Amino acid sequence: MARNAAAVLISCALLLAAACQPAAAGYYKPPNPDTCGLKVGYYLAKCPAAEKIVKLVVGAAVRQNPGIGAGLIRMLFHDCFVEGCDASVLLDPTSANPRPEKLAAPNNPSLRGFEVIDAAKAAIEKVCPGVVSCADIIAFAARDASYFLSNGRVDFDIPAGRLDGRVSLESRTNFLPPPTFVLSQLIDSFRVKGLSTDDMVVLSGAHTVGRSHCSSFVPDRLAVPSNIDPKYEAAMVKMASIEVKTGSAGEVRSNCRVVN
Ligand code: HEM
Repeated sequence: MARNAAAVLISCALLLAAACQPAAAGYYKPPNPDTCGLKVGYYLAKCPAAEKIVKLVVGAAVRQNPGIGAGLIRMLFHDCFVEGCDASVLLDPTSANPRPEKLAAPNNPSLRGFEVIDAAKAAIEKVCPGVVSCADIIAFAARDASYFLSNGRVDFDIPAGRLDGRVSLESRTNFLPPPTFVLSQLIDSFRVKGLSTDDMVVLSGAHTVGRSHCSSFVPDRLAVPSNIDPKYEAAMVKMASIEVKTGSAGEVRSNCRVVN
């Protein structure tokens, strides 16, 4: 079903193709999930409640509005493809940086779920201030949204230890493939992020059943099909490791919307 759904996405993208835009290729180094320093259970000693809190907050939000779960899955994709998985998508405009990613056309006004990340972060800050990054909260939230939207069938560990970035520029969202991309451009935009055509197909399955321009084919309420391709979990983990920041390359923000 995920493959069928992906085929729908691709044919939809082909149908919508109005122009061949240049592929955003060759700028970033592809990720290396094995060496990027992330660990399953990273917060077990540092902040044992962290993952539980995110799951509780996401579960409550998805029960109230399943579309928010779709938004959180998409948020991980939009975060990771631009500056890596570093919560750059969450930064609000400031006078020093009036045009962050969040205001770019692929995100504004369609990207949703920001208030869920804020709620999870606020609850976590109460118990372990300054420990859990917003980038990790996005990754946990996308994983948990997949869990709730699939009624528990999609259930996987996601490694953590990402730091939050300090750069967020509208201009960098050109790494997000637009719906006008033809298949070769879509494949290329995933390849430059170290993801394969297979990864693209299984991840795009989640996309297609969300609220998309192809949404007449599929219900808004189910972001993750019940018989989802088992490769979805591995592809999510891989996507969530794109160009992560560790060491001095980032920080743990106190408020996900502003740099420290
Ligand atoms: C292959 C290239 C992709 C393109 C061109 C694309 C494009 C889009 C577009 C145009 C929308 C509709 C936004 C709106 O409501 O106006 C959308 C929604 C969505 N996409 Fe994608 N997408 C792609 C890949 C992905 C991937 C890899 C994922 C997840 C892993 C994903 C997850 C979603 C979800 C869940 C929604 C629904 C969001 C919501 O209802 O809030 N997409 N996408």
